[in-house]
Amino acid sequence: MREERKVVVAVLVSGGGTNLQAILDAEKRGELPHARVGIVVSSRPDAYALKRAEEAGVPTAVAERKKCASQEEFEGEIERAIESVGAEVIVLAGFMSILSEKFTSRYPERIINVHPSLIPKFCGKGFYGLKVHEAVLAAGEKVTGATVHYVNEIPDGGRIIFQKEVAVREDDTPETLQRRVMEEAEWKLLPRAVELTAERIASENFAK
Ligand code: GAR
Repeated sequence: MREERKVVVAVLVSGGGTNLQAILDAEKRGELPHARVGIVVSSRPDAYALKRAEEAGVPTAVAERKKCASQEEFEGEIERAIESVGAEVIVLAGFMSILSEKFTSRYPERIINVHPSLIPKFCGKGFYGLKVHEAVLAAGEKVTGATVHYVNEIPDGGRIIFQKEVAVREDDTPETLQRRVMEEAEWKLLPRAVELTAERIASENFAK
């Protein structure tokens, strides 16, 4: 594999960054022959994900919505970070800020999101992080899972790339369920979706 054909990936985070870690670990193991994480952008300056990036030697940037006068200014900051490394794929790995249609339409089928449920169940407005697992347990579901999908203007509504089911146990708490969904589904599906997307873009670039 020639190094120059690696597609640069920007990972957007807000929290712990375990999904970012899964991508970085997959890259280190040689499982992303077409992709390289070029920058991590956090919407929070205290996100632990930033430490994970630093430890892996990946450049970081912070873009805080509340410090920006408008959504446009916020997205401008994110775009500058993305463009500073020439990233062609954007991964939302626990990124908790909403991106406008103006932003998402610039990167059709190039923004990947990971969501901790089997979309169309438990998704859209108000369903994020632990809230998803709380709702799954409250509904008495026996099976849940995770979805990786492309991002368009509809929250959690873009084309699905992969889904994986995970069993719900009777004694699950939102925290134990969240952990199992991450281990069994999210951390496996997300790096695979990154490689699949990067491989497609690398072949498009090659054909040009
Ligand atoms: C993950 O479970 C991810 O699926 C979820 O937030 C968590 C982030 O964890 N994302 C959403 O709910 C988006 N709607 P991480 O920071 O450890 O990767």
